[in-house]
Amino acid sequence: MQDGSIGSALVTGNSSGLGLGMTRVLLERGARVYGLSRRGCPEAGVSGDEPVDLGDFTATGNAMDRMLQGVDSLDLVVLNAGLLGHMQRMQDAPMDELRRLMDVNTFANKVILDALLQNRIRVGQIIAISSGASVSGHAGWSGYSLSKAALNMMMQLYAHEFPADTAINAFAPGLVDTAMQDYLCDEADRESFPVLQRLKAARGTQDMPGPEAAARAILATLPRLHQTPRGSFVDIRQL
Ligand SMILES: NC(=O)c1ccc[n+]([C@@H]2O[C@H](COP(=O)([O-])OP(=O)(O)OC[C@H]3O[C@@H](n4cnc5c(N)ncnc54)[C@H](OP(=O)(O)O)[C@@H]3O)[C@@H](O)[C@H]2O)c1
Repeated sequence: MQDGSIGSALVTGNSSGLGLGMTRVLLERGARVYGLSRRGCPEAGVSGDEPVDLGDFTATGNAMDRMLQGVDSLDLVVLNAGLLGHMQRMQDAPMDELRRLMDVNTFANKVILDALLQNRIRVGQIIAISSGASVSGHAGWSGYSLSKAALNMMMQLYAHEFPADTAINAFAPGLVDTAMQDYLCDEADRESFPVLQRLKAARGTQDMPGPEAAARAILATLPRLHQTPRGSFVDIRQL
């Protein structure tokens, strides 16, 4: 897999956006692709697809066990599923929303990684899709930033628990033109949160590729991640 060939992969959040783009590109390259999301993957050729709300940890663990029965190795695991929540000041963020963001963006990935360890599935490479917002601390990102910062640390901690030949990183994919950007560019409050003006300006340019182009760019960087410290946060824009 360090040669860049991927025979099998698990991609969470495979129903839309980057996860669907990643699934399509991997299928096109002949990989066996498994996935999880609430709506399910619209692609017919996937090897396993479990509709599940990742905020339901019991259902997620069961879905993993069911889907990966008979699977003994995966070349790639992409922990991609994620929720944005609202752009808002911390003092305005409802506790319920913060908890939901932590559950889906952070803790669900513990359930998934634990299922891989418990089922003794050998994994070549793990990337947890994080964000520049996990480290930038700009106003407004609220629970999203918190959940992605915690995700970064979770990858550092799991790096001690997966075998040393499993590459593992938190990975910021750069801007990708998906449903998440519909909210950020069109609905969120650009006056209160000026960082959104940069996103609006990038939309429709090469600075915000579509999901499949972004997936190809990410897949091209994967071999280089083997040279980064295990567990580290990597931003595609700095590679
Ligand atoms: N777009 C960007 O510019 C950008 C930049 C940096 C990082 N990211 C990250 O990239 C990842 C993909 O986001 P995207 O931009 O492709 O957004 P998206 O189109 O909204 O996709 C999000 C995916 O996550 C799944 N998901 C969300 N909540 C879930 C839940 N409770 N249970 C199961 N699946 C759930 C969704 O599936 P269902 O709705 O079917 O459940 C969907 O497949 C996210 O982690 C995001 O934080 C995106």
